[in-house]
Amino acid sequence: MSEVSIVGAGYVGVVSAACLAERGHNVTVADKSRERISLLIEGKVPFHESGLDDILKRSSSRISFTTNTGTAIEKSDLTFVSVGTPGRKDGVIDLSQVRSTAHEIGRALRSKRKMRHLVVVRSTVVPGTTWYVLRPAIESASGLKVGEGFSLAMQPEFLREGNAINDMLHPDRIVIGECDKQAGDRLQVFYEGFYGDHTPPILRMSSTSAELVKYACNAFLAMKVSFINEIASICERLEGVDVVRVAEAIGLDPRIGAKFLDAGVGFGGSCLPKDVRAIHARAKELGFKSLLLPATLHVNDRQKRRVVEIARHLSRNLRGKRVALLGLSFKPGTDDVREAPSLEIIDHLKRAGANVVAYDPAAIPNARKLLGRRVRFASSARECLHGADVCIVVTEWEEFKALTPEMLKSEMKRPVLVDGRRMYDPERFAGVAYAAIGLGTEQASSHGLH
Ligand code: UGA
Repeated sequence: MSEVSIVGAGYVGVVSAACLAERGHNVTVADKSRERISLLIEGKVPFHESGLDDILKRSSSRISFTTNTGTAIEKSDLTFVSVGTPGRKDGVIDLSQVRSTAHEIGRALRSKRKMRHLVVVRSTVVPGTTWYVLRPAIESASGLKVGEGFSLAMQPEFLREGNAINDMLHPDRIVIGECDKQAGDRLQVFYEGFYGDHTPPILRMSSTSAELVKYACNAFLAMKVSFINEIASICERLEGVDVVRVAEAIGLDPRIGAKFLDAGVGFGGSCLPKDVRAIHARAKELGFKSLLLPATLHVNDRQKRRVVEIARHLSRNLRGKRVALLGLSFKPGTDDVREAPSLEIIDHLKRAGANVVAYDPAAIPNARKLLGRRVRFASSARECLHGADVCIVVTEWEEFKALTPEMLKSEMKRPVLVDGRRMYDPERFAGVAYAAIGLGTEQASSHGLH
């Protein structure tokens, strides 16, 4: 079993640490944030990821946490770098944490001569970063050369929030971008040992290719969502056409596939929007003007305006109206509101003069930090609906499935429902004013949606 260190206690770092420790590796997790490390030492997970607390508890004897990166490196032979790479307004990612980590690793390697250390970049970094930013930083701080004194690889992560442990334990593939052959060989042996008979396909390539794989993957997923949302907008302008049926039929073509064809208010989260902007910015730096990447983002922005437009048509005017907004997190199963569609939708609603009351089963504390008093928060879906003129469903939480036309009629001032996530069977809501993304009904046409 290896002595592993992980720099960066974000959700990729902590999930990886827990899974590696559970399978017998000794893991040291380093992070600059004292607050985060103290919480982890107390056994508390600083974010919502289902199943993570249990697995951390089970493997606690093999995991330690520290704010000292140098010590973590010295104790280990293999270091995974999973520090944040936040996006700037212009899309370019901020590499300061990556740079300082590379420097610290280099300094620690200067004094550690035991065994050739393997450094693996897991942070999402634009093509060229591992070779042109990390490699020289580690080399100059350590006085060692890649492929001689230390090994370096880039391995993109494909973990989904809310499903990260399962994704780590059952990946579709492992992509190894190697700066030196030994890095690739060692990492391959490491994962073959970890997954045994269930080792997924391992693809080896250059570090720059591996970096691009990550962006190409997220950009494609984002584009697929924007594609179906664009089809949804066409559906809305046609009589009796429903995007759900259209998506089901096109998804059965194996060349297309059924996943990521759920039309709705658009994609959010800490990855898809940021990564599309970052690869667009990187392409620009390389002298290439992408057409699909900015279009993917434009469609996504338009989708959030669209749902408000639908609400406006159904209620004639939103000024002074009370809007019940169900769902704040960027998807169900998480308390994460980073780039959540709800935030922009709330902005549009406020600009239209509406009073917003919002409810979410998990994300209210995080949303409150960003929204403050601009929104009133309810403590249940029913309370949120009470006295509202219109309800917009923004996140498809399981508990919202329990909404019935009777509940809308008894709680709301007027039973008006805008289904932003296609959660409901339109026929079930025949008795109330119901409109949805991608649904071109007669009801919609009578409200001027065509
Ligand atoms: C995404 C990728 O799916 C992961 O593979 C990747 O590892 C991760 O980013 C990352 O780069 O770290 P995540 O951000 O957790 O994972 O969220 P997704 O499940 O991909 O959903 C993204 C957004 O797309 C959500 O707002 C979701 O509601 C929306 N979406 C997804 C749709 O609107 N329609 C769909 O059909 C699918």
